[in-house]
Amino acid sequence: MQTIVQKIDRAQIDAAAMEEAGRILRSGGLVAFPTETVYGLGGDALDESAARRIYAAKGRPSDNPLIVHIADMEHLAEIVTEIPEAARKLAEAFWPGPLTMIFQKSDRVPYGTTGGLDTVAVRMPSDPIALELIRRGGGYVAAPSANTSGRPSPTTAQHVYEDLQGRIPMILDGGAVQIGLESTIVDLTEEVPTVLRPGYISMEMLQAVLGEVRMDRGLIADDSNVRPKAPGMKYRHYAPQADLKIVEGPQEQVISYINEKTAGEKQVGIICTEETKARYPRGDVKCVGSRKDELSIANHLFAILREFDADGVEEIYSESFEAPGLGQAIMNRLLKAAGHQVITL
Ligand code: TXA
Ligand code: MG
Repeated sequence: MQTIVQKIDRAQIDAAAMEEAGRILRSGGLVAFPTETVYGLGGDALDESAARRIYAAKGRPSDNPLIVHIADMEHLAEIVTEIPEAARKLAEAFWPGPLTMIFQKSDRVPYGTTGGLDTVAVRMPSDPIALELIRRGGGYVAAPSANTSGRPSPTTAQHVYEDLQGRIPMILDGGAVQIGLESTIVDLTEEVPTVLRPGYISMEMLQAVLGEVRMDRGLIADDSNVRPKAPGMKYRHYAPQADLKIVEGPQEQVISYINEKTAGEKQVGIICTEETKARYPRGDVKCVGSRKDELSIANHLFAILREFDADGVEEIYSESFEAPGLGQAIMNRLLKAAGHQVITL
């Protein structure tokens, strides 16, 4: 299959190209498209065979449920049995935007889309290209991140092309995404709303709207027997080919520790920040962003993990990041990429 990469200008969306993309979705095919978080691999969420194609293209285990993307609030009631008050408040505050909510699913959503679960994850993205595609594609677009399963999520159309060329008919290229980390997932089927995956919409932002909000124990427990509730969070993820370790502690000690590691023969990669990049004289040094601007770090993290694969480094050391706000989502992805290997100095 030949993969067409179709450039789309967000300021002036090409209606004919979007109609062609919508037609592919309506006939059961797949289209990769930009959202404000990461690129998604879209298929008709109400068509079980489209879900199967998504799993096959990504090489993803089919027990890992997909997020259903909608463009209009009226469509929500069609795919869930009940809209809790908390969901209305969160939708009011953060939709369209980088927030996914878990509901009890209605019969319209096939089990093939939800990985066999009775719940469904729903998100209304804010990227205008995504909204236009959803509307033209029938209103309900199932879309996981458009990477090969296990690789870092794609933040450019080029990343999608690297992973999925020849496997899908079309990629809509809207340039680099705004955020760079996947949406926050909140489960509203629990008594207390529970964050299953941290993202741009932080714990603090959710609490400001809802009051009490919890973090899923499976995300924070040291005990690996406590399984995260989002099935996808249990898989090894985002991982570069080289062994990645996070180094935390006082900044000067972290810098000396990492510099010792680059003294030998090995090809070593380093993930550092604007504030520290001049302090690493050796190694494959990559600056992920500035500590004063966490969004810059979110923007570049996945692209940098991919670059190390292309460079062929043997091991990677990363500086650590602070936990509140967006830092929590950054550390969550970095910890998963590192298989939770942390060196504390
Ligand atoms: O930002 C995003 O959310 C991107 C863009 C494309 O919208 N999508 C994305 O999808 O990250 P994906 O499939 O890569 O991650 C979805 C996560 C998985 O960890 C999955 O297990 C979880 O959501 N999930 C989906 N449905 C669920 C459900 N009913 N209950 C619990 N977790 C669910
Ligand atoms: Mg993903």
